[in-house]
Amino acid sequence: MDHFTDRAGRLWAEDVDLTALAAAVGTPFYCYSSATLTRHFGVFRHALSGIASPDGEAPLIAYAVKANPNLSVIATLARLGAGADVVSGGELARAQAAGVPPERIVFSGVGKTRDEMAAALAAGIYQINVEGEAELFALSEVATALGTTAPVALRINPGVDAKTHAKISTGGFENKFGIPLHRAAAAYALAASLPGVRPVGVTAHIGSQLTDLAPLEATFALLGTLVRSLRAGGLAVARVDLGGGLGIPYRPGDPAPPTPADYGALVARATKGWDVRLLCEPGRLIVGNAGILVSRVVTVKPGSHAGGRSFVVVDAAMNDLLRPSLYGAWHHIRAVAPSGDTMVATVVGPVCETGDTFAEDRTIDSVATGDLVAFMSAGAYGATMASTYNSRPLVPEVLVDGAAWAVVRPREELAAQLARERFAPWLV
Ligand code: LLP
Repeated sequence: MDHFTDRAGRLWAEDVDLTALAAAVGTPFYCYSSATLTRHFGVFRHALSGIASPDGEAPLIAYAVKANPNLSVIATLARLGAGADVVSGGELARAQAAGVPPERIVFSGVGKTRDEMAAALAAGIYQINVEGEAELFALSEVATALGTTAPVALRINPGVDAKTHAKISTGGFENKFGIPLHRAAAAYALAASLPGVRPVGVTAHIGSQLTDLAPLEATFALLGTLVRSLRAGGLAVARVDLGGGLGIPYRPGDPAPPTPADYGALVARATKGWDVRLLCEPGRLIVGNAGILVSRVVTVKPGSHAGGRSFVVVDAAMNDLLRPSLYGAWHHIRAVAPSGDTMVATVVGPVCETGDTFAEDRTIDSVATGDLVAFMSAGAYGATMASTYNSRPLVPEVLVDGAAWAVVRPREELAAQLARERFAPWLV
């Protein structure tokens, strides 16, 4: 459920009229709803509320910053008690700047540099998720040099097919992520033997936009077996990080994906008796439907011949919202002020390649030049995957809270984009 609703025939974000907002900030722009962020975080936390560690600690919900790293989005969630799952020095800096306490920060990622390891250790974060034996040696060296010990969870590659898009599947042996399950016990023992690391647990993340809980259930079962066998071998396991991945509804009419409550019930069932502190790393579930991309129709081009394809050209493009172009992802496209009529159109941006297509031959609300359209469910992996391809400035991000709104990232100025570059000395 989100807080983008129709009032008096127009789309609003909470108590903000998007037509007026578009006039104020210009198009295209991303718009996020605080109430939706709050609701999604609350629903997810509630779904896990029956589960506690032996010390009575609730699961740590480490929001996957990669999904939407806007400082105000992270800060909104941090105030609700969210932690942060970060995958780079940049995301670590963002989580810190947004006020996430270090004891709620987890650092994941398959290629951490020694500088990133040092930054994580200096910040005193809760846990570093290590993805390979060589990384264990490197982290141990970095920590020892800094006179500290790194709390690590080993990311296990369970060899499970997550049944999602190939580009966002991460839990198969053909994927680059994690330590293969059959090497996990040896790697954990290795971690216990190294001076600069202290193994505290295990983790797995098998993929994103999961719409079937079965692969997660299989993964959790493998983790449970691993925890028992590590303990049987005399190794302490205090935490299990279950990763993220829960999918969201994108396409009206599609079967609803499993709910957070379904997920919570699975987690409670699968982790019964583990006696660990659980961690989760949801990203898309929290922010996906809390954001939209608002764009204006630049022109409508009729088909080349009777029955030919007609194009709606909007002022947003693949550089602003890459998912349709990169994954063939579906985003629902609607008029901000629908007339009630529909048309069949191919919705494209102005970028000079055919891949700059948001929807092909789709029935959409009828729109004409100058009308506003909204790309729904664009809060996750939207603005953060944007580029300046075709020298298009990065678009603004607006956060709404009730009737209040704020530009939380202004539109990039073209002059600033140019000023980031230097002429080679022989050209001046
Ligand atoms: N934890 C780890 C270790 C991850 O790699 C990811 C996402 C998450 C948590 C959060 O997953 P979520 O709950 O958001 O599914 N750009 C793609 C999605 C890439 C996901 C990468 N990893 C897209 O637009 O669909």
